[in-house]
Amino acid sequence: MKIYLIGYMGSGKSTLGKVLAREKEMDFIDFDDYLEGKEGKRIAEIFEEKGEIYFRKQEAHYLQELLEGFDNTIISLGGGTPCYGNAMERIKAAEGTSVYINVPVDELTRRLWSQRDHRPVLKHQNTPEKLEEFVRKHLFERSYYYNQAAIKIMVKGQSVPQLVNELGEKLF
Ligand code: S3P
Repeated sequence: MKIYLIGYMGSGKSTLGKVLAREKEMDFIDFDDYLEGKEGKRIAEIFEEKGEIYFRKQEAHYLQELLEGFDNTIISLGGGTPCYGNAMERIKAAEGTSVYINVPVDELTRRLWSQRDHRPVLKHQNTPEKLEEFVRKHLFERSYYYNQAAIKIMVKGQSVPQLVNELGEKLF
């Protein structure tokens, strides 16, 4: 069994993935950590030193490694991973199940406001209003890819244990 968690930055992919993996005795991989380990650099540094196009190219490359190996694993993908090139097609064709963690824009904005300095895609949004406007448009564009996931979870105030339960019921 393999599970790919997809969704916008701040949607809780890693938090939920870790808890579910522990509960189901599966391994867990955070794709951002995996990519940082392979490149020997933080994502923010990769963006700064080599630019976003290089990052997206490496992201597409390492995605393939994750799609081909790692059985019995829950993989939390980067927010942009399914949205470039043919990544979503490759995810759908691979062994395993994709899950979209769908969080409303206002909640994403609240979560992301304090974290935007570490997130190269968001760091220029310097007021909560600008950030919300950006997230709204960006999520709208990306939803085309996210909505192709096999399973969708709508987040509307459930606690982490409730969401993990819901995920477990839909997946197992
Ligand atoms: C990105 C999301 C990040 C990380 C990078 C780009 C994006 O991952 O891959 O900063 O374009 O949405 P998380 O969604 O795990 O924060």
